[in-house]
Amino acid sequence: MVIAGARPNFVKVAALLHACRELEVRACLVHTGQHYDKDLSDVFFDQLEIPRPDHSLGVGSGSHAGQTARIMAAFEPVLLAERPRAVVVVGDVNSTLACSLVASKAVYPDGTRPFLVHVEAGLRSFDRTMPEETNRVVTDHVSDLLLVSEPSGEANLIREGIDPDKVRLVGNVMIDTLRRLEGRARQTRAAEDLGLAGKRFGLVTLHRPSNVDKAESLGPLIRALERIGQEMPLLLAAHPRTGQAMERQGLALAQPGPEWAEKGGLARSGPLPYLDFIGLMARAAIVLTDSGGIQEETTALGVPCLTLRPNTERPVTVDQGTNILVTRTEEIIPSFRKVMSGPRPGRVPDKWDGRAALRAVRAILDRLEKN
Ligand code: UD1
Repeated sequence: MVIAGARPNFVKVAALLHACRELEVRACLVHTGQHYDKDLSDVFFDQLEIPRPDHSLGVGSGSHAGQTARIMAAFEPVLLAERPRAVVVVGDVNSTLACSLVASKAVYPDGTRPFLVHVEAGLRSFDRTMPEETNRVVTDHVSDLLLVSEPSGEANLIREGIDPDKVRLVGNVMIDTLRRLEGRARQTRAAEDLGLAGKRFGLVTLHRPSNVDKAESLGPLIRALERIGQEMPLLLAAHPRTGQAMERQGLALAQPGPEWAEKGGLARSGPLPYLDFIGLMARAAIVLTDSGGIQEETTALGVPCLTLRPNTERPVTVDQGTNILVTRTEEIIPSFRKVMSGPRPGRVPDKWDGRAALRAVRAILDRLEKN
């Protein structure tokens, strides 16, 4: 049983389901409904060719406690009715945590219990103000098998006392989906439609509560991005949380149009479909983001990335890849200038080769056989 809840989960689940098909493993898909907008959910299911979920829990948005509790209450009966041998959770969103807690406590009527697998285990930002950090730590400590995407994950888990026998470095399943669909993404007309074909441009995403929820954070960030916009057109593909915060804070931006593409500036669109976004990212001169997954995708594509956060749980993207952490807003413009005048750095980390999900599913089968 594979759990999907929010946008970044869909990219990882697509790879795992693909690998299940290849290895003839029966998979049951549960969508918690944490993300429900067409732009954040349906479009991803279509473009990533994810089958319709076997169970849709339809939980929607809410406070952390409310959302987590609703997912747990809705998931428990589904788990007990389906009785899968393994439950696979991915990433670090509230759906990951909620379903992990339910699966780790479940006991079937015959006394057996599901085997809980965490894909993308071991990542740590060491920042407990990030809700995802709690989700990561708790999920890892209740999981039976921890499948890791980069070496820091193994080191973190061992340091926290997790039995090394439960831990395997399989690589990055998000990059499997990127490699599978990169050709199609590069053929989308997103850049042409925005008037950006053949031009230098930058792509921006922001959605972390610490960056967008308060005017003291978001205002200076937007002003720095507007300065960069004077040098090349920048597109902010805004998450609904960011769009709502900008409206609340009276931060208006123009929509992308011909004048913006010609003269530059910072423009705002809504969230983009996967293929359009990857197609634009592959052609961008620079990406500025606070997303976790985009730090990895830019590394795989060899596109410079400025991460607008004081920390990253994906240090391999900084050590080996194209990622630079920008810890203070004042550093954004100097970092941008430095990146634009330097050579394109980075290499693709080990096991980010498009076959991570196959290794993940094989590792699960291997463990289930031994149990
Ligand atoms: C969630 C994840 C975050 C991940 C991000 C990717 C948690 C704690 N956070 O953050 O780790 O990086 O997804 O996008 O799980 N909303 C909509 N439509 C939707 C879903 C949400 O408009 O389909 C709006 C609602 O106002 C909602 C807000 O976005 O309250 C936040 O949604 P939520 O799922 O709580 O967290 P994200 O910010 O999306």
